Amino acid sequence: MGKEFSITPRQVPHVETKYRRIATPVPHPNSVPTLEKLRQIEPISMRGQPPLVWDRAEDIFVYDKHGNKWLDWSCGVLVTNAGHGPAEIRQAIIDQVNSGLLHNYCFPSEERAELVEHLANLAPEGLKKVFLLTTGSEATECAIKLARAHGIKKGGKKKIGIVGYERGFHGRTLGAQQAGGMAGQKSWIVNEDPAILNAPFPDGYWQEDTSFDTFLAAIEQRGLKPENIAGVLMETYQGVGPDFAPVEYVQRMAEWCKQHDVVLVFDEVQAGFGRTGKFWGFEHYGVAPDIICCGKGISSSLPLSAVLGREAIMDQFPPGSMTSTHTGNPVCCAAALANIKKILKENLTANAARLEPILLGGLKKIQSKYPKVIGHVTARGLVAGMQTVKPGTKEPDHDLAHSIVERCFHKGLLFFCPVGSWGQTVKISPPLTIPQEALEEGLAVLAEATDQALGGP
Ligand SMILES: Cc1ncc(COP(=O)(O)O)c(C=O)c1O
Repeated sequence: MGKEFSITPRQVPHVETKYRRIATPVPHPNSVPTLEKLRQIEPISMRGQPPLVWDRAEDIFVYDKHGNKWLDWSCGVLVTNAGHGPAEIRQAIIDQVNSGLLHNYCFPSEERAELVEHLANLAPEGLKKVFLLTTGSEATECAIKLARAHGIKKGGKKKIGIVGYERGFHGRTLGAQQAGGMAGQKSWIVNEDPAILNAPFPDGYWQEDTSFDTFLAAIEQRGLKPENIAGVLMETYQGVGPDFAPVEYVQRMAEWCKQHDVVLVFDEVQAGFGRTGKFWGFEHYGVAPDIICCGKGISSSLPLSAVLGREAIMDQFPPGSMTSTHTGNPVCCAAALANIKKILKENLTANAARLEPILLGGLKKIQSKYPKVIGHVTARGLVAGMQTVKPGTKEPDHDLAHSIVERCFHKGLLFFCPVGSWGQTVKISPPLTIPQEALEEGLAVLAEATDQALGGP
């Protein structure tokens, strides 16, 4: 985990199709000063991505300044569900800028009113309060705070436990990081909170026992009881897979939460806004949470996040005490409204659902060719992953995943760097606007890159 991609220009075969164009060495030599400047001034932690200096991005494509065009399977990082910079979102941003209102803190604005109303209408029964923030981490951090405050109200200061999941991810602020379950695996996460614990995530691959008993055992092992738990924070699907929990597990968990006055939070920062072939990812489970955290695909562009929840949980603090400087920035709100309207009008959610079998089928085909090293593949809607392992084991193979991503990059298919606790997942997340033909072309490129990474032709 944590390898850098080389920034030395490399001569690669010419590519020219309807969806990809690579006509120069990559990165282009003229990009190198920018790449070097970033490496010099930014922290090392910012170096992980393929060395493409983005010049512009449109719908399913990302371009550099030098005539190269990538078919984008990153969406940045699962942000541009409605495609990169569609006309409706650009126009909404321009109109808002031209209206003269760029910032208004928590003072009322029509844009914020319209967006929160729209989000409340999309939320399940009973989750009708909406609080806007800027990043996904802020949304999950806020959910932890709300769950704890609610727990204290119900059961006193001993009811503050938060259950997250092993190998989960909820962002990089302190509480979000601890709930995200990397804490046990990453020595650089410090200040472990004794009341935040991570249950095994029932993905069926890394964690073979998918019964709900594993959840109860994790609480008990920490010396806690249900009356000590304030909230459960679960990615609707665990992003590093992507992996869904068994439906029965989640339904039992929802019942358990209700029974013990525990706030159930689904982190929909990745899963929301059509990504999985349903508008909300939790619709796959047939249960509704008490709090939904949103981000990324909410705007397909500018930074915006949201916490949606039940009134009794959201209305715990007095006026002026749960706010943020950039809450519902009007330009971001305008972008989000245009984005959500586009997703609904064009039924991009249905496109994701329709293309799922093609995506999964293509990945299974690669896996069936290399079953010893492609350990686990999953897809739901238009999010998928291919997890690499050392031959015949379950030992993650970051180098292989990295090599596949790099080879695809040279062929005009763009992924972000491999993800997962061990950097073992080649993650696939194209815009939901992708046509079937482009998806099929991308799958062929991925298959070819995998062949080559494994020493094939
Ligand atoms: C499921 C999930 N939650 C929260 C976050 C954090 O969002 P942000 O990076 O906007 O803080 C992410 C980001 O990748 C995410 O995938």
